[in-house]
Amino acid sequence: IPFAALRPQQPDALLALIAMHRADPRADKIDVGVGVYRDEAGQTPVMRAVKAAEADLFAEQRSKSYLGAEGDIRFAGLLTDLVFGEAKPESGRFGLQTPGGTGALRLGAQLLARAAPLSRVWVSQPTWPNHAPTFAEAGLATLVHPYFDLESRGIAFEAMLDALRQSRSGDVVLLHGCCHNPTGTQFTLEQWAEVAALCNDRGLIPFIDLAYQGLGDGIDADGAGPRQLLNAVPTALVAYSCDKNFALYRDRVGALFVQTGTKNLGDIARANALALARSLWSMPPDHGAAVVRTILDDNELRSTWNEELDRMRSRLNRMRAELAAAHSALAPIASQRGLFSLLPIGAGAVAKMRDSHGIYMPTDGRINLAGLNENNLPRFVDGLLPHLEQSAGVAQATVAVG
Ligand code: LMR
Repeated sequence: IPFAALRPQQPDALLALIAMHRADPRADKIDVGVGVYRDEAGQTPVMRAVKAAEADLFAEQRSKSYLGAEGDIRFAGLLTDLVFGEAKPESGRFGLQTPGGTGALRLGAQLLARAAPLSRVWVSQPTWPNHAPTFAEAGLATLVHPYFDLESRGIAFEAMLDALRQSRSGDVVLLHGCCHNPTGTQFTLEQWAEVAALCNDRGLIPFIDLAYQGLGDGIDADGAGPRQLLNAVPTALVAYSCDKNFALYRDRVGALFVQTGTKNLGDIARANALALARSLWSMPPDHGAAVVRTILDDNELRSTWNEELDRMRSRLNRMRAELAAAHSALAPIASQRGLFSLLPIGAGAVAKMRDSHGIYMPTDGRINLAGLNENNLPRFVDGLLPHLEQSAGVAQATVAVG
C-alpha cells in the first residue's frame, strides 16, 4: 500500500488554534478564534427552542429508520422559504439535506464537477480557508478574485468585477450570502444587482454560501440580496448552514439548493445530486435537521427561536459598536456584520497578543466578535492598541515614502 507516497499535511490552522486555546492555563485568556457564537458569559448554549424541539422529538419520535439520500424533505422545504422567500414553488429547483454547510458545498462541487468538469470556481481573496480545498478535492480548479480593500476595510467591488470579467462562460463564482467570513463585509442590494448582471452577461454561475442568515441584520434582511440574485439568474446553487443560526454546530445541519431554470434540468440535476450524496455519506444525519424542522413548523417554537436569534445578533452588533469606538482604525467594524472582522494587524502582532495577553485569533487577524463581552473587552483593547499604533505608523511611513 503506497501510503509512503502521501505528502505530509499541515494540521488545519483553525482546529489547531482551538487546541492551543484549550491548553492555555491562563484564567483570563480570550478566544476570538473559531466561529461559534458566545453569550455574554462566554458560553455557547443550546438554544431554548432547540431544547424544546429535542424534548418533542424524544417524546414523539417513533422510528429512526432510514429516510433516504435526500434526508428530511420537510426540513429542506421549510428552509427553501427562508432562502427563496415564500414565492410559488419553482419546478426547476430542488433542495437536499446535507451534513452541514460544508456537506452542501462539497455536494454542489461534486455536481458541478460531474456536469462541467472544466468549469473553474472563483473565490474571494480572502475567504473561509475551507472553500478552495472543498472545490479542489472535487476536482475543480479554483481562482481568486480581489475582494477586500485594505485601506477602507470594505469591499474592493470594482476590482472584484474587473477580475470576474475575465471569467469564462460556465465558470462558478462563490459568493458569501451575508456576513462575509473573514471580513464581515456584505454587498449592498445595488451591488447584488450588479453581480447578477455580470453573471448573466458572462454566463457565470453563482454559488451562494449562506452560513450566517439571521446573524447580520435579521433573517429577511440577510436573505434579501441572495434572493434578488436568485430571482435574476437562471442557474444557481446555495449551500445553507443551520450550524450558526440554530447553534447546532456539531449536529452538522445544512442543505444544498440547486436552481436550474427548467423542470427537465432540475430533475436530472436532482437525480445526479442524490447519486453523489449516496456515495459521499449515503444519507445525512437526521437529528439536527429534525430539530430545525420541528422549530420552523411550530409557531411558538419559531418565535422563541427568532427572539433568541435577535438577542444573539443584538449582542454581536453591540460588541461591534463598542470595539469600533476604541480606536479610529477599528471604526469600520461597526458597520460590518456577522461574527467576524479582520483586524488591521499582522501575524507578528497576532502572535504577540497570544503570548502576552492570552488572546487567540487566526494569523490573518480575523476576530470572532462573539468572543468579546463587557468583562473582557477592556483587556482585549489593551492587548490590541499598541499593535494598531504600530501598523498605523507603518501605513503612514509607507504613504510618505510612496
Ligand atoms: C469558522 O470559520 O471559524 C467556522 O466556520 C468554523 C470552521 O469550521 O472553520
